[in-house]
Amino acid sequence: MLTKRCDQTVAWTALQGHYQAHGRDLDLREAFQRDPKRFEHFALGAPEVFADLSKNLWDVATRRLLTELARECGLEAHRDAMLRGEAVNTTEGRAVLHTALRAPRGAAPFSDDVHGVLDRMLAFAESVRDTAASGIRHVVNIGIGGSDLGPAMAVPALDAFAHPGITLHFVSNVDGHDITPVLRRLKPAETLFIIASKTFTTQETMANAAVARQWFLDAGGSDADIGKHFVGATTNLEAAGKFGIRTTFGFWDWVGGRYSLWSAIGLPIAIAIGSDHFRALLAGAHAMDRHFAEAPLADNLPVQLGLLDLWYRNFFGFTSRSVAPYHQGLRRFPAYLQQLEMESNGKQVDFDGQPLPYATSPVVWGEPGTNGQHAYFQMLHQGTDTVPVEFIAVKHPTHAHADLHAKALANCLAQSAALMLGKTSAAALTEKAPTASATLDKQTLARHRTFPGNRPSSVLLLEQLTPRALGALIALYEHRVFTSGALWGINSFDQWGVELGKALCNDLLPRLASGDPAGLDASTAGLLARLRA
Ligand code: F6P
Repeated sequence: MLTKRCDQTVAWTALQGHYQAHGRDLDLREAFQRDPKRFEHFALGAPEVFADLSKNLWDVATRRLLTELARECGLEAHRDAMLRGEAVNTTEGRAVLHTALRAPRGAAPFSDDVHGVLDRMLAFAESVRDTAASGIRHVVNIGIGGSDLGPAMAVPALDAFAHPGITLHFVSNVDGHDITPVLRRLKPAETLFIIASKTFTTQETMANAAVARQWFLDAGGSDADIGKHFVGATTNLEAAGKFGIRTTFGFWDWVGGRYSLWSAIGLPIAIAIGSDHFRALLAGAHAMDRHFAEAPLADNLPVQLGLLDLWYRNFFGFTSRSVAPYHQGLRRFPAYLQQLEMESNGKQVDFDGQPLPYATSPVVWGEPGTNGQHAYFQMLHQGTDTVPVEFIAVKHPTHAHADLHAKALANCLAQSAALMLGKTSAAALTEKAPTASATLDKQTLARHRTFPGNRPSSVLLLEQLTPRALGALIALYEHRVFTSGALWGINSFDQWGVELGKALCNDLLPRLASGDPAGLDASTAGLLARLRA
């Protein structure tokens, strides 16, 4: 368990002084001039991922003090407690063992259970992939949050490895505009529905599952066929059985929703890429787990990224971080990270329920490059806020268009460099702007065309987006979130913040029919009346 919260350490006080003296005014351009080996000094290697952290607003002393902070907080002991299966999720009284889901047989707690389900799930995935025998051409995953975002992110990311004859669909939203267009394209005989829900009680998933079931019957499927065309990934085998599902793949309460893609929730991924590739995904994550467990804190990539997050959030006061994967397959990666990071660390009290005197989770957001460049990068370069950017680049593409890939890579490097280098007014003065108004004086125009620079970014580099590399990348982020959450002294594994809205929704749903406004606030009552008018 943790020894101290970050703000109770000696290193925290030292970092406050260090920030005033060497942090807030650090200029990256000068730092690179002072230290010609800065790139090497801030490069970190981990399984499948190389990280260039040199364009961040820190120096060697910052890293040393941050690493000391992690040590003082007892991060290593807390990490080891999680990996051993202690109940580190105290508010739910649960262990946190997603790492056990990707450990080789015999290497982690619950190994027999884990590998039993895994073997069965992968055999089932292979039987579906045998389309001549299964007749399945479409697989629809119905789930939300952690029961959707992981597979919905990983399947397009690994498109190059996917079965060409099976189309994967993801339905999550209770808004009927999600499932309707999906069902329109399907035929019952060719379709497999996966009802993915840890609890098998989530309103959205249960509602969409009921719609899918009715569609299946209305379109000519029989009750007897439900058992063949609907399968479940859940910890609630009893509720799945009541739904009419005969094939279920279970998992356990020690698998958090947002950490569940390695479990039966990964079934759509396994169907898409097959059992060997799915095992490679697990192996990549396991390699990162070993790195997290064994590398010294100073060389530990997830730990260093978590420390950098704390440095930016609590010392610089940056409120968000932008993620820019220069790989179209990773288009859902920012959305996946939003749940991973913001549901884990968007908390305001510590383990003891005491209000925190400092900020926690930043807003995580982003889009794939180069699309983001033509949307919000303007703000990143010239806006009034500093937003650290995380570029994810891939050395070798899985397509044959070398020219396109070179352009994607050049854009990625250019954006990271431009954020740091900026452009002075003096340089802007020398440039021509042929369409500028003739009445605008040169100095004014130059100020519009000036970039402050000194804006931080990191580059994470993969050799290729293979299943193994994706597994390692996701695990890297999981452990980074663990690190920042632990240092902030919070429980990263509960999510009470989603409960209030669920309870109010249950109260409001019958009122949409009855119109009863009793006890509602005036705004909600007014909106309810308008909706019924
Ligand atoms: O949004 C809250 C949440 O509990 C997530 O943590 C979880 O991933 C999601 O709902 C879905 O839950 P379930 O898998 O039980 O349907």
